[in-house]
Amino acid sequence: MTTWITVCETCKRPGWVPQADGLTDGERLAGLIEHAARDVPGLRVRRHACLMGCERACAVALQAAGKMGYGLADFAPEPDLAQAVVTYAAHHARSRAGIVNWADWPEAVKPRFVSRHPPLPDA
Ligand code: FES
Repeated sequence: MTTWITVCETCKRPGWVPQADGLTDGERLAGLIEHAARDVPGLRVRRHACLMGCERACAVALQAAGKMGYGLADFAPEPDLAQAVVTYAAHHARSRAGIVNWADWPEAVKPRFVSRHPPLPDA
């Protein structure tokens, strides 16, 4: 089952100033996550405007049908952090219910979980 990584493309971390390319921190992080996830089975990445975690930019959500979903925040647009999101998401994709063994959590994601969302009932 596909795990979707949704990256807030409008996030700007404190101190953000426009660069020549005009990219937000969220757009930079999204690009890094898209690159890291490009060949990983079971993962899809999408961009979305504001996930309502603006005070803790950059924000990311992980979701899959029938599985526990998660909101994460406080990311910077750095390759190691993007890889941590993808590594966790790959475990999520392989899990039955969206519960990833603690031993498989990349260190970089551990302090960044802010919410979890039980799957919707069937009816
Ligand atoms: S702008 Fe990214 S969570 Fe609001």
